[in-house]
Amino acid sequence: MKKMLILSIFMLSAAFANTNKYTDKVVSLYLNKNDTKVQGRLLPTNPFTIVKTEGDKVLLRISGYVNPAAPSVLYFNNKQRIIVAAFSKNAPLKFKSRAKGSANNWGKATIEVWADKQEFANNNKEMLARAKTLYMENCGMCHAVHKENEFTANQWPAQFRAMADRTGISKDDRWLVIEYLQKNARDFKKGK
Ligand code: HEC
Repeated sequence: MKKMLILSIFMLSAAFANTNKYTDKVVSLYLNKNDTKVQGRLLPTNPFTIVKTEGDKVLLRISGYVNPAAPSVLYFNNKQRIIVAAFSKNAPLKFKSRAKGSANNWGKATIEVWADKQEFANNNKEMLARAKTLYMENCGMCHAVHKENEFTANQWPAQFRAMADRTGISKDDRWLVIEYLQKNARDFKKGK
């Protein structure tokens, strides 16, 4: 009995370690645990895992695709500019792994970076639903709301930003809505 309990606790914690987490807000990233200088940002709705917690910091493992021409950005798939995490241009990034990739087939990469300890969500369904509501309620006030699939994933950020100041969407929620729009864009694919 006791053995089974220990075993199931062990299995449970192992499962937790690999569970995807999500944020609905932009999260500041640090390259080292004791850094005070923010070197990157993790954007809403993208999956990541928690490697460990130390004091008031958490080590996050983030995966994405890297365009060899712009190696300080992790993208959601291998060809669209849907940002998962973006770092300062000259940040000395140490990737855990990084496939070479090319200009039109970016390479898969994984990095571990630190963030302030905070609550993260276990899925992105609710935040995506909130993004949709924000979009529908704010972007259909003056004209008919534009369909998500009217634009490509690469076109949406500029289309959204050109209009965002005309809406009541708070600055904190803008990346959430952009990610929602990109992930429902005409040409959105998961990539490979
Ligand atoms: C306060 C009124 C208002 C709100 C709110 C508004 N728009 Fe617009 N939108 C306009 C007007 C007016 C135009 C016509 C072109 C212009 O004024 O730039 C326009 C044009 C557009 C166009 C067409 C641009 C083009 O190149 O033809 C798109 C796409 C668009 N809006 C998207 C959005 C999105 C997305 C939101 C929410 C973030 C939004 N709008 C919120 C007033 C608004």
